[in-house]
Amino acid sequence: MTRKIILDCDPGHDDAIALMLAHGNPDIDLVAVTTVGGNAFLDKVTRNALGVMTMAGITDVPIAAGCTRPLLRQVEEAAEHGESGLDGVVLPPPTVALDPRHGVDLIIDTVMAAPPGTITLVPTGPLTNIALAIRQRPELVDRVQEVVLMGGGVHVGNWSPVAEFNIKTDPEAARIVFEAAWPVTMVGLDVTHQALATDQVNDRIAALGTPLAEFVLGLFRFFRQAYRDTQGFDFPPVHDPVAVARVIDPSIVSVVRAPIVVETVGEHTLGMTVTDLRRTAAADCHTQAATALAADRFWDLVVDAIDRLGKAKTDA
Ligand code: RIB
Ligand code: CA
Repeated sequence: MTRKIILDCDPGHDDAIALMLAHGNPDIDLVAVTTVGGNAFLDKVTRNALGVMTMAGITDVPIAAGCTRPLLRQVEEAAEHGESGLDGVVLPPPTVALDPRHGVDLIIDTVMAAPPGTITLVPTGPLTNIALAIRQRPELVDRVQEVVLMGGGVHVGNWSPVAEFNIKTDPEAARIVFEAAWPVTMVGLDVTHQALATDQVNDRIAALGTPLAEFVLGLFRFFRQAYRDTQGFDFPPVHDPVAVARVIDPSIVSVVRAPIVVETVGEHTLGMTVTDLRRTAAADCHTQAATALAADRFWDLVVDAIDRLGKAKTDA
């Protein structure tokens, strides 16, 4: 069964790979893309999304810009993505037009136009757009099939010792999303830190021999240096496509059901996704957290999607 998804993103090097996986994998129907201020300011991430979609031949999917900033706080751009938000590559002039609607309205319109329970939301940036969508149309909570988001973590933080960037950027929006009574799968740093773009992964991508493969290698070259400089990683964790992989094949990303609440007031714990592993059998639990990644099978999906898109673009 093809899964229809809306990707709400802030490209971002790993968001770019999530876009490619979402459009390149035959089991996913990418029905809309929305952008949100996060890794970089909204104008940058939106320009980046248009450029990546053009480069990858994703030209028949509506894309709209969403919220410029979190509900209450300011955007703190992430150094891991450079000044442009997608340093390391030259984007082609976009051939994709921006939908005139606000991203929140594109999300609402897309979900309401589809049969109930057929659209999955895959946010890979701060959750501002998603929170406002269910505040504007609360019925989305019952209509959306599930939310599978990249963000948070059970035992791992990156923007603080206990909080992850997407959640900590807009903790109030995250709290709204996690508290809503829809199925939420948190694909957090516990597993995305296993999605490393190693030398072997780069060699597999280089062997594809297409301009898109070269583009991805340029993304990974910058991302690797940035993660080495900022967080001491040997290889960069490519976070966002792990959430897409969970939708494609749930067996690739193991999960545990557990209540998850977002800290919105802690002086030292702001943005922490507090996961109660003592209550995994709670009857009213609608949240689950990712705990393990089948990394080889994950990269098989990513490399295959890049190959499919690269060849389709070359043949076009
Ligand atoms: O913490 C990693 C997340 O923050 C990823 O989504 C990355 O793109 C950044 O948005
Ligand atoms: Ca992201």
